[in-house]
Amino acid sequence: MLGNMSGNEASRTAVLVCQGRAVAHGRIAVGRFDDPVARLLLRDDELAAVERARTGVAPPGWADRMEFELLAANAEVIVPRTIAIDDAVRAGASPQLVILGAGLDGRAWRMPELSGVDVFEVDQPASQQDKRERATPLHPTAGSLRFVPVDLTRAALGPALAAAGHQESRPTTWVLEGVIPYLTPGDAAATVAAVAARSAPGSRLVVSYQTGSPRAALGRLLARGFLLLTGSGDPGAHERRRSSWTLASLRAVLAHAGLRVTDDVDLPTLAGELSVPTRHLRTSRVAIAVTPGR
Ligand SMILES: C[S@@+](CC[C@H](N)C(=O)[O-])C[C@H]1O[C@@H](n2cnc3c(N)ncnc32)[C@H](O)[C@@H]1O
Repeated sequence: MLGNMSGNEASRTAVLVCQGRAVAHGRIAVGRFDDPVARLLLRDDELAAVERARTGVAPPGWADRMEFELLAANAEVIVPRTIAIDDAVRAGASPQLVILGAGLDGRAWRMPELSGVDVFEVDQPASQQDKRERATPLHPTAGSLRFVPVDLTRAALGPALAAAGHQESRPTTWVLEGVIPYLTPGDAAATVAAVAARSAPGSRLVVSYQTGSPRAALGRLLARGFLLLTGSGDPGAHERRRSSWTLASLRAVLAHAGLRVTDDVDLPTLAGELSVPTRHLRTSRVAIAVTPGR
């Protein structure tokens, strides 16, 4: 299997979605969405861009304008997704939480509900090292927090989690947020199989996904152009999308591992209920599946 990120570069898309959460905090869906940690995980230049976007006033220059639009769009997309996944994590109330492709996810530092929960963050090694440096001054709200560096296209997830202290005999909530498009269908199937194999009865997998659409493809093109213009190199070279999904293909992968979908949240509908704009959200969903247990 070939990896889709080079081994020594941290994820740029993880920074972008974290910036989206920082832009949204206190401005969008106030009272339902709350992520004060996102800004604390950003470097100065990344935070300066967030502050420009939070003004809500589009800047004149085209490069600044592009950055502004990208972060504003990210903020709208990320709010319902985060709320749906937070709700599922709370409802699961599992003693263990495994966040796969964690990026700059702030749940272990911002969710008081995790105070009795053992959290495991799994990510591609360079991204995880970058996260650990950013998070050094922060204090987790989670009962415990362990970092498990795994490239899901290259290494086996199960043994790495076992070595880190994850217990297959205790229920786990698994989160796969914004990650599945970066895996090939085969890697996604292997990841889901590893999840199923380590899931005690009562476990659940929460997975965000997007079904393909021209509008979503345009948004990605905009993001790619922005990253190129800001000198981050070609993000496609190391964070290339490796798969696209439909309701049916995602359910088939889950079912093959014995996972049964119990809920499939349509994010535009949720955004509508929250009065969050839906222009970038047309095909985004969050599926919740119960694992077979053993
Ligand atoms: C768009 S970011 C999402 C980050 C985080 N889940 C969130 O929603 O804030 C994609 C994440 O997937 C991770 N990722 C991509 N390919 C991966 C792989 N092969 N193995 C492990 N993690 C991977 C990246 O390192 C990055 O953290």
